[in-house]
Amino acid sequence: MGGNISVAVLLMLLAGAQSQQSVTLSSRSLCALIGSTVKIPCKYTSSSSSDRPREWYQVQRSDGEPQDLSKDPQYLGRVSVSTWWNNCTLTMNNVKVSDSGVYNFRFRTWRNKWISASFGVTLTVTDLKVTRSNTYRTTLRCSSTCTLPNNPTYIWYRNGHNQNTNGLYMYGSSEDAGSYSCAVRGYEELRSPAVCKILTLNSH
Ligand SMILES: *[C@@H]1O[C@H](CO)[C@@H](O)[C@H](O)[C@H]1NC(C)=O
Repeated sequence: MGGNISVAVLLMLLAGAQSQQSVTLSSRSLCALIGSTVKIPCKYTSSSSSDRPREWYQVQRSDGEPQDLSKDPQYLGRVSVSTWWNNCTLTMNNVKVSDSGVYNFRFRTWRNKWISASFGVTLTVTDLKVTRSNTYRTTLRCSSTCTLPNNPTYIWYRNGHNQNTNGLYMYGSSEDAGSYSCAVRGYEELRSPAVCKILTLNSH
């Protein structure tokens, strides 16, 4: 009798521990510049020892069984996973447009059950482009295909020289002809391609 109660208690404890196991990804989407390093924050709670199998995978690229990113030639040598106890943060270096996709993390419990986050993180990798919109005056814009985090400060270069303008737009006059490129502060080395502008004054 006493033995049965112990077994019941043990099963309840195990069930409780099992249900508490989870993966938490704190952001749903991330936008990153080509060539930058991306960290996808991740935490997990596991009742299993830390040497259980664990891996990051790309959701759409995995038709059948998810493929461990660190074994995928596309990511070889560019990804690492934190080895801290309950930290599963993924660091991806030198990101490319082709890295855009949905990522998730999973670990295997001692019962050989995989546990992952219910939603993956959508990563979008963007380049920077100088685009022009003709409104009242000629306006240059440093554009990206997704919204970069932390309200970035844009840096403009004219003929390769920093213009000390940090706005999103640049208003030109006919003296401003030249070759323009832009960058985001902190990532100056990841500059956009230069665009040649012979600015013409608008008739209005
Ligand atoms: C988790 O690991 C990442 C990458 O190693 C690190 O940047 C981050 O500070 C860690 N987070 C915590 C809460 O320790």
